[in-house]
Amino acid sequence: APADTEYDVVVIGGGPGGYPTAIKSAQQGLKVACIEKRGSLGGTCLNVGCIPSKAMLNNSHIYHETQHGLKSRGIKVSDVQLDLDTMHKARLKAVNGLTKGVEFLFKKYGVDYVKGAGSFKSTTEVDVEGLDGTQQTLKAKNIVIATGSEVTPIPGIEIDEKKIVSSTGALELAQVPKKMVVIGAGVIGLELGSVWSRLGAEVTVVEYLDAIGAGMDPEMAKTFHRVLSKQGLKFKLSTKVNGAKVEGDIVKVDVEASKGGKTETLEADAVLVAIGRRPHTTGLKLENAGVEVDNRGRVVIDSEYRTNVPHIRCIGDVTFGPMLAHKAEDEGFAVAEMIGTGYGHVNYDCVPSVIYTHPEVAWVGKNEAELKNEGIKYKTGSFPFVANSRARTNDDTDGSVKVIADAETDRILGVHIIGPNAGEMIAEGVLAMEYGASAEDVGRTMHAHPTLSEALREAALIASTGNAINF
Ligand code: FAD
Ligand code: NAI
Repeated sequence: APADTEYDVVVIGGGPGGYPTAIKSAQQGLKVACIEKRGSLGGTCLNVGCIPSKAMLNNSHIYHETQHGLKSRGIKVSDVQLDLDTMHKARLKAVNGLTKGVEFLFKKYGVDYVKGAGSFKSTTEVDVEGLDGTQQTLKAKNIVIATGSEVTPIPGIEIDEKKIVSSTGALELAQVPKKMVVIGAGVIGLELGSVWSRLGAEVTVVEYLDAIGAGMDPEMAKTFHRVLSKQGLKFKLSTKVNGAKVEGDIVKVDVEASKGGKTETLEADAVLVAIGRRPHTTGLKLENAGVEVDNRGRVVIDSEYRTNVPHIRCIGDVTFGPMLAHKAEDEGFAVAEMIGTGYGHVNYDCVPSVIYTHPEVAWVGKNEAELKNEGIKYKTGSFPFVANSRARTNDDTDGSVKVIADAETDRILGVHIIGPNAGEMIAEGVLAMEYGASAEDVGRTMHAHPTLSEALREAALIASTGNAINF
């Protein structure tokens, strides 16, 4: 665009928050630029997050099943070998195809893709230091900050991305470690721990809290812990990490009981640090626009995503709420509509969460611990996959579905699933909650037979009437 162009919207960051903001804005006829410094679009999610991790999860699952799960199905294979190089190539193929796809969408909808690092010059101007070394300044009526998040480090532990890795290094390990220590039994630790465990590593997960799954429903967390332990993952719960050092080829990890006391040194060929992510605003020069952040580094916004400077808005991982791609995406859609039309909406009561292990874990709405805390009276219905015909025919029966409904009104308050395809099944729970469904509504909805989703229907029946037919 010509140097004196004034954009309607300049988006800083081309991740799952920023790129939908840009596309939706352009679709409404606004003049839009999106600045991205990484050299490819799609942000953390497409480049080093959701997409490459799911490629590794899927392919490691197929490898593991081929080795261990086929015999009882009447399929004999021999000489099953891992070709890790090709598995990595398959991961990169998925990533490159999708990031190029976003670039194509920018062209299709007329978004100017500005390759470089953006920083505030003033409240209406953004400087861009181009990846090719050029400098330019973009003028904007509206600016949307969508700069995402970065790995939270552990003080005193240096991530070298070779021996001590973040999720980014853990996606790319050139060899299967013999022993791996994972620090943090949250989403990343359990997903990537599963990947390397399936490929042959002996994986020990160290978690500060007394439960895995970073805040999931306590009963489901116990089941999940049992299922993963059965798969060979080892857990050290209520344990904190005091330090980790590379010594020659091995890493020594000092751990201690969370409450203090018993100490131990674990040895590993690779250590994954996965204790969370933090907002990323480095280099943005927020001070030049006077944009406020809170004490955790999150950009402060109101219900219309406005910062304290009203025409500068902010969405995604860099502000409040769960750090999830679909949450960032829906905020991008909403913020673009607010800029274009004055109206937009995200329902934060209906944000699904999925952990893509096998079986998968998925939930939406409140869990039992939260409802107890809030003093809300509820009833539950649980249905195990071992009583579901499709799970039985697939010989894949670990897990269950739990529907939580309001004790008086029967309105669904939460759905929690551990099971094959839980990540796909949860969409039904999300839709039911969006429409304010009662458990009886779902219990009276016909579900195709034999499908896994019948387990959700039966759990809903139990929640509403106390009984199901098949359990
Ligand atoms: P980001 O995706 O972080 O994008 C921000 C972009 O802004 C980056 O590309 C960055 O380079 C760019 N940027 C930053 N500063 C500037 C600047 N000054 N100028 C120009 N560009 C800048 N979420 C899920 O929902 N499902 C999953 O399965 C899932 N798996 C994950 C697996 C891993 C290993 C990780 C690490 C994360 C995963 N997440 C997942 C989380 C998900 O990746 C994030 O929630 C999502 O990417 C947030 O989107 P965002 O647009 O806010 O930020
Ligand atoms: P997380 O917040 O999910 O889990 C971190 C875990 O580390 C917690 O259980 C915490 O108690 C523990 N912990 C913190 N400090 C510790 C310490 N010093 N020693 C031992 N344990 C410690 O964070 P994670 O797994 O790093 O993921 C970051 C974010 O990325 C998640 O919040 C999630 O939003 C996103 N993500 C989402 C995925 C998905 O949707 N499937 C997949 C991967 C990441």
